[in-house]
Amino acid sequence: MDALPYSQACENNKRPILAVLQQHLGDAASLLEIGAGTGQHAEFLAGHFPGLRWQSSDIAANLPALRPRIARAGLPAPIALDVDASAWRCGSHDAIFSANVLHIVGAGSVERFFSGLGAHLNPGGLLLIYGPFRYRNAYTSESNAHFDRWLKQRDAASGIRDFEWVNSLAEAAGLSLVQDHPMPANNQLLVWRMGGQLAP
Ligand SMILES: C[S@@+](CC[C@H](N)C(=O)[O-])C[C@H]1O[C@@H](n2cnc3c(N)ncnc32)[C@H](O)[C@@H]1O
Repeated sequence: MDALPYSQACENNKRPILAVLQQHLGDAASLLEIGAGTGQHAEFLAGHFPGLRWQSSDIAANLPALRPRIARAGLPAPIALDVDASAWRCGSHDAIFSANVLHIVGAGSVERFFSGLGAHLNPGGLLLIYGPFRYRNAYTSESNAHFDRWLKQRDAASGIRDFEWVNSLAEAAGLSLVQDHPMPANNQLLVWRMGGQLAP
């Protein structure tokens, strides 16, 4: 633990996430992180991919909390990116990573997340999404059902998303599912590839 904004969950999941990213990122040169939160994922994960430019982002209101850790890590300064914005000013990337965002934002924002990202993911690029999902209209665990109830009490727009719905949004954006990795604590790490020229 340190003095900067801190999430114990990030500390718990960052190594399992690294193990999956190492299977997929290959020689990707640039990655956009959406909803970077405390910056702990950026700080830890980017350090394992020296050839990768890790561009973190979050809504403008969260940037003051995010900037110090990103600066300490020597990474590019985080940029403001709200998935609800009509235009994302974030350039184009070989990969987009986002952890624990889709169950926080409302369903309309999830739709805009997928409709917005297409213009910013290079052909053959990867979308990597970490978090809890429901499958065939069911939770993967009782703890996820409890978490979903807690999320909705906190904000009625939040909620654990159905994999099938999210995957349909991804397919409409031109993405194809590559792999669904079960992760510790009843989470998933979903990996899609953007159509077009396939990366080796
Ligand atoms: C539960 S936190 C996850 C943070 C971090 N990725 C993690 O795994 O610990 C959700 C993040 O989504 C961000 N967020 C909320 N609404 C957003 C939006 N409309 N566009 C982009 N990010 C958003 C929040 O600022 C926050 O950083």
